[in-house]
Amino acid sequence: MSGAGTARLAVLLSGRGSNLVAIADACRRGEVPAEIVLVLSNKADAAGLERARERGIPARVVPAKGLSREEHERQLIAALEKAQVEWVCLAGYMRLLTPLFIERFFPRIVNVHPALLPSFPGVEAQRQAWEYGVKVAGCTVHLVDAGCDTGPIVLQRTVEVGEDDTPETLSARILEQEHIAYPTALRRLLTRPWRLDGRRLVFE
Ligand code: GAR
Repeated sequence: MSGAGTARLAVLLSGRGSNLVAIADACRRGEVPAEIVLVLSNKADAAGLERARERGIPARVVPAKGLSREEHERQLIAALEKAQVEWVCLAGYMRLLTPLFIERFFPRIVNVHPALLPSFPGVEAQRQAWEYGVKVAGCTVHLVDAGCDTGPIVLQRTVEVGEDDTPETLSARILEQEHIAYPTALRRLLTRPWRLDGRRLVFE
């Protein structure tokens, strides 16, 4: 697979939105041949919504409260289809997606995770890695499948763990690498031919 022209991206987030900013800036600089056409959040107070609006990107809340997972996802899918979204980028979106959503967009769903998968999936990955005592940590950009942080890996970047690191200092250095990794991964996916060989994502 590969993309030609300008891809229509959506970003799904639940919080701060620093990865959204990194992707938006890379698109604006022409480093990623894409446009973010919609930002969706399950959280009304997500700071990432404001980061989007400051940049003129339409941003909407789709609350999950009181809805089944599928009903919530049907609302997300409707908003994404209305905006003619081709690629969905998860950036700190803290809900698992069901097969309903995955089947609609796979393999064009991308996520960033703050650990070197398959180690430390799930929440607070940086703290998990620090508590385990790893000497090298990092981040992973991967395609999203129906598992938790299990999809094909696009790109990883590493960070050395120092004796003085705390979960907080380590998280901050991993985040710097996420901001490089996510746009780089999108650029590769959109500009180079690639295929899936089992769970291996192979660039031609
Ligand atoms: C990032 O560190 C991202 O890797 C993590 O949430 C943070 C979002 O930050 N995602 C996960 O842990 C998903 N399992 P941001 O809102 O500033 O982009």
